[in-house]
Amino acid sequence: MKPGQLESVGVDAASRARLEQLLNGFWFSQTLSTAACLGLPDALVEDGWSSDAELARSLALNPDALRRLMRALATIGVFEEDLERPGWWRHTPDSRLLCSDAAGDLAARARALGELAWRPWGELKTSVQTGRPAFESVFGRSFFAQLQAEPAMAQTFARTMASFTQATARAVADHAPKLPAGHRVVDVGGSHGSMLAALMRANPGVEGVLFDRPEIIGQAKPELEDLSPQLEGGDFFESVPAGADVYLLSWILHDWDDAQCAVILDKCVQAMKPGGQIWVVEMVVGPGAPLPAAYFDLEMLIQTGGRERSLRAFERIFADAGLHLERSVELPLPQRLLIASRAD
Ligand SMILES: C[S@@+](CC[C@H](N)C(=O)[O-])C[C@H]1O[C@@H](n2cnc3c(N)ncnc32)[C@H](O)[C@@H]1O
Repeated sequence: MKPGQLESVGVDAASRARLEQLLNGFWFSQTLSTAACLGLPDALVEDGWSSDAELARSLALNPDALRRLMRALATIGVFEEDLERPGWWRHTPDSRLLCSDAAGDLAARARALGELAWRPWGELKTSVQTGRPAFESVFGRSFFAQLQAEPAMAQTFARTMASFTQATARAVADHAPKLPAGHRVVDVGGSHGSMLAALMRANPGVEGVLFDRPEIIGQAKPELEDLSPQLEGGDFFESVPAGADVYLLSWILHDWDDAQCAVILDKCVQAMKPGGQIWVVEMVVGPGAPLPAAYFDLEMLIQTGGRERSLRAFERIFADAGLHLERSVELPLPQRLLIASRAD
């Protein structure tokens, strides 16, 4: 064999191995999600070993199937089996992260994957054929209507958002312009308030208003501890709280199509003080988009019918709402803070 041919065999083998690993990716997300949905990480004793027979009894699971699930998870570093005593398991650092009280709330993300994302992602092909969110055909209603009908799912989703946003909120607060005391900020669709809390901590004396659907606002208090923002429930397609200096839209516009974004932006423009601003925190896509932005774009296609947008697309929807993009602030994440104000 010539040297060039040998080299190409090596490249092919590496590409094949990489693709095989990617093709099997669903094994890992589904086993992790199943463990979290079954409450398995929480059921293991904190320190020491737990028997799978006892775990199966306490969680009402099939003992043989549970052992096989745990064995698979152990191969990826989640749970460890006692080599001397088959069927006895203990936590690893990774499995501890899937406990419902662990920092970062990956357990909620793993549960949301199983409860909300898995079945619509299974219909990606349909969404690519039709351009419509597969979520609606799988669940029989829109994403947010489903959350409204299923409070436990809404809670899991809100905790998932908090898990994403807690990781980014500090960076947003550090990179955003400083706000003077007495300025009023409305976190529009602010969920449990992770982003608002970071902004209020970084800008002492700022008045915060957390605005979301009533059933979400009802669950929001524990996230906000000592900050006491005003809590307001409502529908941003109807109106948003009036008279603020800043309307913050973090991961809101990506849920909606351009016409729906125009309505939300218009409600904010109508409500804001003269000289007020709209702050948008979103991922930005374009040629060479980073992995999470491109995949979140597909997630929006499948789940809500929204999309991640290019900077040009944001400029267009701002212009349609009578706004112009004043500043685009790069965050040390694949996200940007876009600051818009009235065009006139
Ligand atoms: C993707 S989450 C973003 C949450 C939060 N801003 C963050 O960055 O973590 C979208 C939020 O919009 C809220 N939402 C959806 N439809 C709404 C509506 N019509 N009126 C008010 N809030 C709404 C949802 O309840 C949810 O909290």
